Amino acid sequence: MTKNIAIFASGSGSNFQALLRAIEKQRLQANPVLLVCDSPHALVIDRAKAAGVDCFVFSPKAYSSKAMFEKDILLQLQEKHVDWIVLAGYMRLIGETLLTPFAGRILNIHPSLLPSFPGKDAIGQALQAGVNISGVTIHYVDHGMDTGPIIAQQAVVVRSDDTKASLARRIQKVEHALYPRIIQELFHETTALSV
Ligand code: GRF
Repeated sequence: MTKNIAIFASGSGSNFQALLRAIEKQRLQANPVLLVCDSPHALVIDRAKAAGVDCFVFSPKAYSSKAMFEKDILLQLQEKHVDWIVLAGYMRLIGETLLTPFAGRILNIHPSLLPSFPGKDAIGQALQAGVNISGVTIHYVDHGMDTGPIIAQQAVVVRSDDTKASLARRIQKVEHALYPRIIQELFHETTALSV
């Protein structure tokens, strides 16, 4: 059965767009039933509106705690019968309020070969460290910062003349192909297991 997904994003949303494109081309069997965004002026909101995807946009500052805004998110997820949460550039740790009901059904993509360079500015961190190879990781989400079990990784060569922008471009190209492909494989596996 086709899974309902909620995509969480905070920024430009190029991965959000890549997921929608894969769905449209039937490379990914999923219903993108909701965008959750914590940044009211993020470009990803325009992308969602253009594609007719419902949005839950909130301002964390309007809440007294993470638990409070995650409760509101959870209501939206329940209302839309969301099966999986797909993080695509969502710049917050997920708290207990969502981790418990969605245990094992929250995914993230990160622009490095974890466990190297977790957290913010992974591409800058890789350049700073002078590594020859970085890449992309897709993993399950747990309490930590980019610490959950790894599902898939793909390497990207770092060139000696790379800038943050040039490396980011090649990493994002890999992200846009890898994320939909791995999610599709995962959904296929979990559906087969539940038959
Ligand atoms: C991506 O590089 C992803 O790996 C990281 O945040 C970035 C989001 O980019 N978690 P975009 O908003 O999808 O363009």
